[in-house]
Amino acid sequence: MSSTPNAVTGKPLDRRDGPAKVTGTAAYAADQRVPGLLHAVLVTSTIASGRIAQLDASAAMKSQGVAYVLSRANAQRLPKDGKAAVNPPAGRVMTLFQDDAILYNGQPIAAVIADTLEHAKAGAEAVRVRYTGDDAVLDFANAKQSAYKPAKVQGRPADTSEGDVEGAIRNAGARIEAGYSTPFEHHNPMEPHATIASWEGDQLTLYDATQYVSGVKNTVSKTLGIDAKNVHVVCPFVGGGFGCKGSTWSHVVLAAMAAQKVKRPVKLVVERTQMWGPVGGRPLTEQAITLAAASDGRLVATKHAVVSHTSTFEDFVEPSALVSRMLYSSGTRATSHRLAKLNVGTPTFQRAPGEATGSFALESAIDEMAEKVGLDPLEMRIRNHADMSPDGKPWSSKSLFACYRLGAERFGWSRRNAKPGSLRDGNEWIGYGMGTATYPTNRSKASAKVTIAGDGVAVVQSGTQDLGTGTWTVMAQVAADALGFPLDRVRFELGDSAFPEAPVSGGSQSAASVSPAVQAACIEARQQLLLIATKDSASPLRGIAADDMTIVNGWFGSLSQPDRREPVASVMKRAGTAVVTQASSAPGKEKEQYEMHAFGAVFVEARVDADLCRVRIPRVVGAYAVGRRLNEKTANSQLMGGIVWGLSMALFEESLLDTRNGRYVNASLAEYHVPVNADVGSIDVLFVDEDDPHVNPLGVKGIGEIGITGVAGAIANAIYNATGRRVRDLPITLDKLMSA
Ligand code: MOS
Repeated sequence: MSSTPNAVTGKPLDRRDGPAKVTGTAAYAADQRVPGLLHAVLVTSTIASGRIAQLDASAAMKSQGVAYVLSRANAQRLPKDGKAAVNPPAGRVMTLFQDDAILYNGQPIAAVIADTLEHAKAGAEAVRVRYTGDDAVLDFANAKQSAYKPAKVQGRPADTSEGDVEGAIRNAGARIEAGYSTPFEHHNPMEPHATIASWEGDQLTLYDATQYVSGVKNTVSKTLGIDAKNVHVVCPFVGGGFGCKGSTWSHVVLAAMAAQKVKRPVKLVVERTQMWGPVGGRPLTEQAITLAAASDGRLVATKHAVVSHTSTFEDFVEPSALVSRMLYSSGTRATSHRLAKLNVGTPTFQRAPGEATGSFALESAIDEMAEKVGLDPLEMRIRNHADMSPDGKPWSSKSLFACYRLGAERFGWSRRNAKPGSLRDGNEWIGYGMGTATYPTNRSKASAKVTIAGDGVAVVQSGTQDLGTGTWTVMAQVAADALGFPLDRVRFELGDSAFPEAPVSGGSQSAASVSPAVQAACIEARQQLLLIATKDSASPLRGIAADDMTIVNGWFGSLSQPDRREPVASVMKRAGTAVVTQASSAPGKEKEQYEMHAFGAVFVEARVDADLCRVRIPRVVGAYAVGRRLNEKTANSQLMGGIVWGLSMALFEESLLDTRNGRYVNASLAEYHVPVNADVGSIDVLFVDEDDPHVNPLGVKGIGEIGITGVAGAIANAIYNATGRRVRDLPITLDKLMSA
């Protein structure tokens, strides 16, 4: 049997879900039509710490259209007080009305269920709550006095130390020591969290906006104490996730609890303001970096100490120092992570957790060191290139030099003027800055199923998700090539917990995990098809040896006798039986042998108004080596989107916590700034081809998160180059630039 050429994999095909989305027919979780459903609105706490003294729902119950008010007074008692499934990332410590404790402002304390959304909202307004307040810890400066070392950071030690760091710093020719910070941020996908819960007997169906259908199934079933087989989670489309939909939060279980009470389906859409509190966010970080270098710019010491916040009831670590463990070569090295507890909702993974925040600090520090030793920032990075991963393992592949070269050339980096504030155009200072991008290549076990019936169409299913990233499309491409089918003979389906299990669409791992499973299931199906054809006495292919057979473009054919051919569909029609295959694919020992990362280089032009310090970023060039691209267009879009989020992080995003009461004061898309089109200039995404035989059978490295990394540092560096002003606290707003 000959192998199939890659007819469609890699092609820049349009997203298959595109027409449904632009015509408004794509049904997201909250759009699902479920007859007879009621609407739930969450009531959330208005203090940050204490207890509910009294929750009076009597007025709410009398409010028009209200069917039920779920609260501590009547909530189902859950196994282990609702904490039976605490197993991050999918299972978090939820607040499910099992006690009176208030742990943060914005915590769900009741759900009002009514016939319409408006009635539920009015009912929620009518719930009267009295609290007994405790002192809340809301000031990070105070909280970090009692910062502690977490047990682990993403399965790794919180601290590392290699060599005599302090000695190397003492004896070095050049040192920089600086503190960087990143603020509270909240994910804010366009589609808020939303759940429709519907019971039929003991069967629970959840239409949920999630990055992890089987995670929701397992978490909800354990939390409620019911059999996982009785929970069905459906999520065909996700309107952005960015990490917040990787976990199952309180509202999902509360919707199921409410639906059980009212014996009707219940829809619960988390309001935009409620996106700041009970559903995670990016922790704020304070990062101290010390770099020491020899006079030639080679790093002799790298120190990166991170303090980030978590909630009072769960540890979430922002792993910002991981990037300093691997990105550059350094004679000695020490990294640490500490946590400080605040009375806020538990933060979570957000858009390249660790690498985004950590690379801002590290890439800024590298720029500062380059200036100190009189090196061009690109040369500084080239000189400190990590040829081997610092733990001594070889990289599975690494094409960072090529990214530096390609990006620098396209950008015109050689025209950069080393002296800050030396380039001016009218009333604007112009500066060039750069940063290195990186993200680990992750992969988990995944499964897929293929069914080919009499119509000759392959239905390929996997319980994965598409966050708007291209899973719908790239999996169909992989399947088509593995089968030898044209794309229009392949239907790929996802977003259903009844399909074979796939991992969370987080950590940039869906393509790397699911495409090998899809490929394996399709290869098996193809073999079965060939067998059917050679045994079919009515087929022109009967009796041909299996190794002389192929399937190309949906046709069986003999390699040696090209005129003997027949469409798969006609053979399958006669066969009267379907081919059904299922396969799993999982990582093997390659992680022990190789360190696996994607890399890139980002180049930025900043323009800063000389009077107002207004910043514009007219131009970004990013060059990336991310293994094989399954679809050139969706790959480009993902990287471009990541760069926009980097711009957002650098200049706009910040949730402001009122330290008197623990409420985020700018909890709306009007006041929590993200870039609009007018804020985004030209973004040029370039790729360095990379053939990595180690990462996974498809050779893909994952592209969901690398795009944001390195960008905020590159922007800070470009602003410094433009103005001579170094801002080390994100976001870089004009007030900070004026006073820098
Ligand atoms: Mo991503 S922040 O791992 O969903």
